[in-house]
Amino acid sequence: MAEVEMIRQYGTGWYHAFWSGELQAGGVMPLRYFGRDLVAFRGESGDVHLLDAHCQHMGAHLGHGGEVRGESIMCPFHNWEWSGIDGANTKIPYLDRCIKKSLGTHRTQEQDGIVYMWFSRKGDEEPTYLPPRVAESEDPAFYPLYPHGAQRANVTFPPQFAFENVADISHLRTVHKWADVPLLNGGGADGDMFFTDFTGHVPTREGDVKVRIENYQWGLGVVYSRLHGLHPTAQISAITPIDHETSVYSLSIWVGRLDDTDEPKGRAKAVIDEQRKQALNAGGNDRIIWDNQIYIENAPLVGDERKTIGAFRAWARRFREDNAPQPPKAAPVPADLPFPESPTTYTPAS
Ligand code: FES
Ligand SMILES: [Fe+2]
Repeated sequence: MAEVEMIRQYGTGWYHAFWSGELQAGGVMPLRYFGRDLVAFRGESGDVHLLDAHCQHMGAHLGHGGEVRGESIMCPFHNWEWSGIDGANTKIPYLDRCIKKSLGTHRTQEQDGIVYMWFSRKGDEEPTYLPPRVAESEDPAFYPLYPHGAQRANVTFPPQFAFENVADISHLRTVHKWADVPLLNGGGADGDMFFTDFTGHVPTREGDVKVRIENYQWGLGVVYSRLHGLHPTAQISAITPIDHETSVYSLSIWVGRLDDTDEPKGRAKAVIDEQRKQALNAGGNDRIIWDNQIYIENAPLVGDERKTIGAFRAWARRFREDNAPQPPKAAPVPADLPFPESPTTYTPAS
């Protein structure tokens, strides 16, 4: 195989696998991530299990016709069973014992309506962090995430292109038509997390509105963002490689409630539609850039870009390389910086 471009190499970390609502107890789902065929299933206990997909007997794919038996999955071909907990062979229906073969297992973490999977580029690294908890997911002031706030698309650009947006403050004016280049309140690398916190102004028909965004990127797969000042919004943007060319881009969007139903309406729905349009839909403001961009190594970053994008790129290396150099420590956000209040009525400019 030709050498994989650095920017497309997989990084160790937590990645979005699917939404909890997509897999009921006893359900089975075929998946393909990191160049491997996988099977997810929810055991009778309610726990999610993630295994390599191919039965070790004669290679059938357990995600296509497999059935849940307790915490094991039964192969559709000759009905051998495999444990979701450790991958061991747990039953051969026409033999009075099991064989010592097992399937590869993958660690999962289910929280906030999302099932995450752990990927280790070396195969044996233990997690050094957990995916971020979403405060809004249990807040009754927000609509439930699933199904309306769950949006996804397959993309072919390297995942890091999209995540560099976390550090790219000035593109908010040029690509997203903010009224100004936002002011960076603080941010940078902090161990396995990279964060930014900035304040800017977004045009609406009633004039410019002050907005503050917090972004917390964990590893190369997941960023938790919180928007203050417009319609209250929190989002997990997640990109999981299928292979070195293709990825699944998933947006999990929590929007502030406007009524007692579970379906976002009005301005709340408009936020979801707009996020989808810009990042996921072909031709969207962000998407059209990422779809056609190339990666410039040692890009000539100027001014503050060195502290933001440059620091992000330096930080991102830790997930792909042994002994990657440490980027400079993050600048703290002033503790007393207020969050702007959401206006009760406004009309988006576009
Ligand atoms: S291939 Fe799975 S039981 Fe035979
Ligand atoms: Fe963007």
